[in-house]
Amino acid sequence: MRKKIVAGNWKMNKNYAEASVLMFQLLEYKKNNPTNCEIFIAPPSIYLTTAKEIFADKEIGIYAQDMSEYPSGAYTGELSVEMYQSIEIDGSIIAHSERRLYHGETDSHANRKVKALLDAGLTPIYCNGETLEQRKNGQHFEVIKNQTQVALFTLSADEIKKVVIAYEPVWAIGTGETATPEQAQEIHAYIRSLIAEKYGKEVADEISILYGGSVKPDNAKEIFSKPDVDGGLIGGAALKLEDFSKIIEAFNP
Ligand code: 13P
Repeated sequence: MRKKIVAGNWKMNKNYAEASVLMFQLLEYKKNNPTNCEIFIAPPSIYLTTAKEIFADKEIGIYAQDMSEYPSGAYTGELSVEMYQSIEIDGSIIAHSERRLYHGETDSHANRKVKALLDAGLTPIYCNGETLEQRKNGQHFEVIKNQTQVALFTLSADEIKKVVIAYEPVWAIGTGETATPEQAQEIHAYIRSLIAEKYGKEVADEISILYGGSVKPDNAKEIFSKPDVDGGLIGGAALKLEDFSKIIEAFNP
């Protein structure tokens, strides 16, 4: 059975005190509430070691938001897989649309980063998704196919099974406009079919595919109810326990 996951991408938000408060609130919440999904957070990297200390018993998964494709060296400002490994976090988000947009990240970069994480025994959360223009032009299937193939299809079957995929249509991120549950399901099923074609149905069925883009307490249940949607990658609504916990509870019966 593939995992159900609710992951919070904090992006570039919160100072140290605010980040610590939210982590302690999440710890308290997790201790007092049985959940039907795994919970991950991806705080700014400067707080990853704090997160490791607060969630010392691995109550929730700790992820970075990006990583260098290089192992070490003269790459000012970058963070390596070995650094993440050495502080024992669980993995990293890769190829978020904001990294693509503001930092020129491509699926070739993503491919190398995903492989580096897997080689180190860490989990990549690989993001893809089309822009509004691409969707309006009816190119969304083609875009998703190309992104998925370039970023992931050099992996072995055993490797790709360990990747978490997040479908995040760019037009739905931070805009308040969400893909309908049917639109999410359509693309998730399509991604799974691409993987099934290349690696077989058994492999495809093991991969968690999360939806991201304006997931909120009032729409999470309907989106997560779709058969190929295995959870969410949450931006804005992950910044307050009140909202994030309601999204986690969307998996409760
Ligand atoms: P929002 O939930 O704020 O739309 O962000 C989604 C996202 O980009 C998560 O990675």
